[in-house]
Amino acid sequence: MGDVLLHEETLDMAYLPPRLPGRERELALLLGRFRGALARGSGDHLLLTGGIGSGKTVLGHRLAEDLRSVGRVRGLPVQTLYVNCWRRSNDRTILLELLRGVGTHLPDRGYGLAEMLDVFEQGLRKSPGHRLIVLDEVGGLVRQGTRLVYLLTRSREVALGAISLLLIAPDDVLPYLDPASRSSFGVTHRLPLARYSEETLLSILEARAALALRPGSLAAETLRPLARAAASGGDARFALELLLNAARSAEAEGRREIGPEDVRAARGALAPTEGELRLEALPLPALFVLLACARSLHGPKDSVATEMARRSYASIAEEYGARPVSRVTFWRNVKSLERDGFLDVEPARPGDSARLRLDAVPVSRLEMLLEERLPRRRSGKA
Ligand SMILES: Nc1ncnc2c1ncn2[C@@H]1O[C@H](COP(=O)(O)OP(=O)(O)O)[C@@H](O)[C@H]1O
Ligand SMILES: [Mg+2]
Repeated sequence: MGDVLLHEETLDMAYLPPRLPGRERELALLLGRFRGALARGSGDHLLLTGGIGSGKTVLGHRLAEDLRSVGRVRGLPVQTLYVNCWRRSNDRTILLELLRGVGTHLPDRGYGLAEMLDVFEQGLRKSPGHRLIVLDEVGGLVRQGTRLVYLLTRSREVALGAISLLLIAPDDVLPYLDPASRSSFGVTHRLPLARYSEETLLSILEARAALALRPGSLAAETLRPLARAAASGGDARFALELLLNAARSAEAEGRREIGPEDVRAARGALAPTEGELRLEALPLPALFVLLACARSLHGPKDSVATEMARRSYASIAEEYGARPVSRVTFWRNVKSLERDGFLDVEPARPGDSARLRLDAVPVSRLEMLLEERLPRRRSGKA
């Protein structure tokens, strides 16, 4: 038993903290919007966007919890259904999840979307109430085309209570929605979350450290470098992972206090997995560059000549319907990927140009992650 992490579960991603420092305004706004809508007997639709670790998911859960605890609105209870759509990016699998949420069940084959929606409504009828449906990580679903969002925004089951919809995605996915759904998410229906500043990350860390750690196991100034390290991405998830790792390092060393050495250890330990998580925050050209390297290094080679990677990059950009960036910009992307720890640049040797290596992540895994994240070719849609 360690002497530092008294309540490790409060640093877990699944833990819902009572307070969200730096997001009080957004939470109040969301609560006001949805409560207001329910009080009028209708639903509201909102899109919440923000980078990795900007608190989208935790805000969605906090909102759901706070709405539920409001109790009854217009005589009906508020129920919330949360679905993470990241792995289930088609309408049917998401609807199956919603069906489970209202206590009904269908085998996952042999039913069309319309029939499934009927069953969903039967489920709603069994226990009338207002519903807030949170569709998290909805980017992939929306990009590949969804009818479900449209159907849910249209449902006006007033007698059964209203259905409100909160969509969560890293960026604005509304352009990918059909015009009718898009119009129900007008300009006032978007809430972008800014990156957290170093100061806000510090407050978040302080609040979580107070919950998780033994009092006195952490000097106040120890948190500052953690907040600073996470500030470039404005990423609370990264900040909390650093804190957890620093605490583990202290325990592993048999210390009763987290010291600067633990902070350094935490940063080192996190690089690879954190890198995977950070893919989502990269600009499109950088994703193409990475994919080019990954594809070039698929075989036994451990490095690729920069010029070859650049040509492969250009054809990938075209494949995805984007205009390849200039040589200079390509190189700038390479350097910033190197800074972020995604790839390594072997400096040019006499008679040979610089070469690129990918040593931090298995190439096949990287390829898969990238292809999942890259927008589908436009031409492949319509
Ligand atoms: N304002 C905040 N206050 C406290 N914890 C936060 C805050 N924002 C994010 N977190 C925590 O940081 C982690 C990442 O947040 P999350 O909501 O999952 O980010 P996102 O969904 O935007 O990637 C979670 O553990 C969450 O509890
Ligand atoms: Mg999330």
